[in-house]
Parts: sequence; C-alpha cells; structure tokens
Amino acid sequence: MTHEASRTSALSIRRLEMVYGGRGTTSHALRGIGFDVEYGEFVAIMGPSGSGKTTLLTCIGTLERPTSGEILIDGEDVTNLSRRRLAAFRRKSLGFVFQEANLIDNLTAFENIALALSLAGADASEISPRVMAQAEQLGVGDALEKFPAEMSGGQRQRVATARALVAGPRLLLADEPTGALDSHAAARLLEVFEDINAAGTTILMVSHDPFAASFASRVLFIRDGLLFNELRRGDSSQDAHYRRILELQAFLGGEANVR
Ligand SMILES: Nc1ncnc2c1ncn2[C@@H]1O[C@H](COP(=O)(O)OP(=O)(O)OP(=O)(O)O)[C@@H](O)[C@H]1O
Ligand SMILES: [Mg+2]
Repeated sequence: MTHEASRTSALSIRRLEMVYGGRGTTSHALRGIGFDVEYGEFVAIMGPSGSGKTTLLTCIGTLERPTSGEILIDGEDVTNLSRRRLAAFRRKSLGFVFQEANLIDNLTAFENIALALSLAGADASEISPRVMAQAEQLGVGDALEKFPAEMSGGQRQRVATARALVAGPRLLLADEPTGALDSHAAARLLEVFEDINAAGTTILMVSHDPFAASFASRVLFIRDGLLFNELRRGDSSQDAHYRRILELQAFLGGEANVR
C-alpha cells in the first residue's frame, strides 16, 4: 500500500457548495464546507434548521450533484461518476435513512426491505431470513406485512432503517433516524448503530438530539452551510460526552436545538 493510499479516508468533503434555485430565488445551502471522516468513525452532525444538514447528506449520497467542490468516498470523487457507477455504488456500498421515511407506498414493509437486498444482488434464498433478522433487530418484526400507510411514524422510520442496513453498507448516512421514535426505541436503534459501527460500518448521522449525538465518536456542528465546531468523544464516557454536547449547544446560544 502506498503512503497516499494508506491515508485515504472513508469520506473527504472538500470546499463543497450547493446553491439551489435560479435567478432571484437562490438558496446557498452549503458554502464551501470541508471535513474528513475516517474508516470506522461514527460521526454526528448537528446544526440549526436550514443549516444544510440534509443537503450535505443528499450530496454525499449522490442523490444531488453539488454546485462545486469534491466528495471523495474511498478516495474516489463521486461527483463525477457516471449514472451507472453511481447506481452500483448506492446499491452496494451505501445505506441511506432519509429524514422522511420514504418507503414505497404500495409495497409492504417486508417488500420494501427485500427490494434493497435484491437490488444489491443478494441470492433469492437468503432474502427472506435476512429481511426478518434485520426487522427483528430494529423491533419491527411484527410489522412486516403492513403497508406504509398502516404503520406508525416510528415503525416507518425503523422499516426505512432496516432497508438501509439490510445489505450491510460500508457507509451509512442517516438523517434524523430517531426523530419519530420514543426514547426506548431511539436507544435501541442507536445501540444497533453502535453494533454495526463496531463491525466496521462508517456512520454519518444527522440529529438534533444531544442524546443521539452522544453515541457518536465525534460531533460536527454546522451553521449556514459551514462547519464551525467539532467535539471528539476521546476517552470520555458517553455521559460526559453528552454533557459536553449540551454545554457546547448552550454556548452556541441553544440554536442547534432549534428545529
Ligand atoms: N430542493 C431545494 N430547493 C431549494 N432550496 C432548498 C432545497 N432543499 C433545501 N433547500 C434550502 O437549503 C437550505 C438548507 O436546507 P437543508 O434541508 O439542508 O437544512 P437542514 O439543516 O437539513 O434543516 P432541518 O434541520 O430543518 O432538516 C435551506 O435554506 C433550504 O430552504
Ligand atoms: Mg434536514
């Protein structure tokens, strides 16, 4: 392995800009943000409503092309990949939990999760057991026959998370994955994230909740489309990390709490 290769990060964001809209109604969602995420990190992103968190995740997830800047995943700039390579990358390497669950309405929970697995190329024989195991792990094993309209908000969110995890992504992007969950279900989901992170999945999770963020090894604070602070957990306990996140939020005027 060359020196250069050994320094490749799971994710490198360089001078990323995103301007939405046309003349007169532009919205500068990202203003040159940059940071690296190393392999195996669990990074939380916090910031006020409208600060660009979802935009950042959608660009990293290759669902939108940024206006300028680079997004290197495994050292490769995904802003210039062909449609075909992008589709393969999304199916095989990436898990995405959207801010709104985004399930397919006319498929059951089982079918929604199974679809992700079959698109990733899984053998037909392994689909059913893997879907059931993943749904069980997230506490929605009893909702597999339901259609999205028949599920609670929290069930939809966990089914969407099961869909994102079932193919074993190397990079998980999660936008407010605990937003619709009660504290018990949230803690359970975050423990699943801890487990898959320990097993090697790199995680980037947007959350406004300091408790959820305290599961991450590093918290990035963004404001107005720019990174403006970060907190590393280091050797401190989760509880101490949680208190530091709260303190930093208070120091920042509590605005990171505003949704
Ligand atoms: N598709 C779009 N078209 C035009 N403007 C957009 C679009 N998506 C986002 N924006 C704008 O970009 C800015 C950042 O939005 P974004 O959704 O990334 O914020 P956020 O940090 O995820 O907020 P929240 O915490 O409320 O989810 C906002 O000003 C928003 O209005
Ligand atoms: Mg958002």
